[in-house]
Amino acid sequence: MRQLIAGNWKMNTVTAEAAALAQALRNGVPGCDVLVCPPATQLVAVAGILAGSPVAVGGQDCHWEAKGAHTGDISAPMLRDAGASWVILGHSERRANHAELDETVREKAVAAAAAGLAPIVCVGETDEQRSAGRETEVVGWQLAGSLPKDFAGVVAYEPIWAIGSGKSATEEDVETMHAFIRAELLRQFPETGAAMRILYGGSVKPSNAASLLALPDVGGALVGGASLVAQDFLAIARAARPG
Ligand code: PGA
Repeated sequence: MRQLIAGNWKMNTVTAEAAALAQALRNGVPGCDVLVCPPATQLVAVAGILAGSPVAVGGQDCHWEAKGAHTGDISAPMLRDAGASWVILGHSERRANHAELDETVREKAVAAAAAGLAPIVCVGETDEQRSAGRETEVVGWQLAGSLPKDFAGVVAYEPIWAIGSGKSATEEDVETMHAFIRAELLRQFPETGAAMRILYGGSVKPSNAASLLALPDVGGALVGGASLVAQDFLAIARAARPG
């Protein structure tokens, strides 16, 4: 399975920074799929710079409706129109800062697919939940609640305590959780679950990318902080398992 290395720029970059980053990534990296998810205000410019390049562009969130009275929100067809082909959904920062529930994420995934966007649905437990030994239970509920019945996208396992902390999950933790997620996907989607990519996210950097990306059932990485530095992001993509 070809790995996907996705950069989540979060609420970073003004025009000049976004353009420089996109220019530096333009050639992509052979052997893996590369995706960048800039903030919405940079989508059109970044998609323009990356047009005709192997690097895909995605949004960081979308509304569950295609249009309407939703001040400040952005719909899936709008992202598509701006040049996106992917969208991140249910990131823990959205779940925490915007009170997104599994059900909301599921409706967004339906809207994304209807607009022709491939969704990356994020799941992951808090430090507290892991300390209580509840990590698989929590992720199991998130998968059951967040993925629509005809889901055709990517799942990203992002333990919340590993995001932006500089401390990624251990290889053993990633391997165990990805095996659990694979089993859940096969249960929910017997026909397609085997081929769905499961990304790992949380403090992925050039120094740990190769070992994380070599693990079984790791279909790529969702990269936050390190995706803002072109040479770091490219180094992570070069560490992808050839496929
Ligand atoms: P990080 O963020 O790489 O900065 O830990 C990952 C993410 O939130 O997607």
